Amino acid sequence: MKNITLLGATGSIGKSTLSVVDLHPDKFNIFALSANTNWQQMLDLCNKYQPNYAVMVDEQSAEKLSNVITTDTQILSGAQALDKVAAHQDTDLVMAAIVGAAGMSSALCSAKAGKRIMLANKESLVLAGDIFMKAVKEFNAELIPVDSEHSAIFQCLKSGKAGLNKIQLTASGGPFLRTPISKLKSITPDQACAHPNWSMGRKISVDSATMMNKGLEVIEAHYLFSLRPEQIDVLVHPQSIVHSSVYYEDGSTLSQLGNPDMRSVISYAMSYPQRINSGVAALDLTSIPVLEFYQPDFEKFTCLKLAFEALSKGGNAMGTMNAANEIAVENFLNHQIGFLDIPKIIDQTLSIMKHTTLNSLEEVVNNDLVAREMTREIIKQYG
Ligand SMILES: NC(=O)c1ccc[n+]([C@@H]2O[C@H](COP(=O)([O-])OP(=O)(O)OC[C@H]3O[C@@H](n4cnc5c(N)ncnc54)[C@H](OP(=O)(O)O)[C@@H]3O)[C@@H](O)[C@H]2O)c1
Repeated sequence: MKNITLLGATGSIGKSTLSVVDLHPDKFNIFALSANTNWQQMLDLCNKYQPNYAVMVDEQSAEKLSNVITTDTQILSGAQALDKVAAHQDTDLVMAAIVGAAGMSSALCSAKAGKRIMLANKESLVLAGDIFMKAVKEFNAELIPVDSEHSAIFQCLKSGKAGLNKIQLTASGGPFLRTPISKLKSITPDQACAHPNWSMGRKISVDSATMMNKGLEVIEAHYLFSLRPEQIDVLVHPQSIVHSSVYYEDGSTLSQLGNPDMRSVISYAMSYPQRINSGVAALDLTSIPVLEFYQPDFEKFTCLKLAFEALSKGGNAMGTMNAANEIAVENFLNHQIGFLDIPKIIDQTLSIMKHTTLNSLEEVVNNDLVAREMTREIIKQYG
């Protein structure tokens, strides 16, 4: 029986993880759960899974939950409590599925505690890739990607990296793949969140619509697989059936395919190196009329271009870009700025922020805070 700490339990990845746990009560036990403010949903989860710990980062939400809980679950609050349950000696597997930079510290703590980290929070690598990968190595942690593309690459690279030319991350292209730029100006948050293939949280759905999600994934792949930027390619594939590919010198290409459902990726991370039932139906290639592939349009999806540039620039550029994106997306979701303002605001933040190297977690956190403040100032000129 493996004890799981599930960070971001009330989110899209959190729910999918619990649905895999439900299929295997003999293999997995929920040891700790976390959320930010959604204490009502956490109450339901505590009643069902009876975890040892439930963390509500927001203190008022923790208090509300404490007032009504009837199970023996210990309620903790504050961001530091996430670090505690992520590194707890009784936990075996940590699902890092908090959205945004808020998920970085706890993911890093689980690395330093030598856990198996099932990493959905790509922001940890975008912000602190060098520090994170160093901790994984030093503390003998096990890092399994929970992103469909990176899980695909992880699986394809089982035959080794010798003779590897490049990897290719596929991208659905999001809901606006075929929408002309002239129509993007008036896009609403609900339209941006209506992803054609994947059901996800609102922030990552907007990132998919701008293709910043793919940009973050390029950076994630750079750190996960120790690849140079020019070894990472992006290919638009609207059906999201080919999850990604690796290309070898001898002309061979290995791809991983499946229905677009994160439960396959999650169950693989939970059971690796075994495979278990995830609840996802087997792929029926005869039922898919066509598989399309296109080069990405870097002019229309400026965020993807910005991410490649930030990766090449290195240092604080990736963290700055991520911070600016999080603030811009939050403002877009709150109807404060337009869809096309997102890349403009990120670009402006990147051009104003001083370029430096980041050598410690403290510097990473400080850069994140400064970049957020700068983005907020820039946004005041909009609207
Ligand atoms: N969804 C996907 O298919 C998918 C695929 C690949 C990778 N990912 C990555 O997985 C992560 C989670 O994505 P998601 O779609 O599951 O997000 P989501 O549905 O928005 O869920 C986010 C989770 O994080 C919690 N949270 C939000 N802000 C927090 C904070 N400041 N401190 C602590 N916890 C906080 C939320 O709690 P409350 O409910 O209380 O707000 C919720 O449990 C992201 O990094 C995303 O890029 C997602």
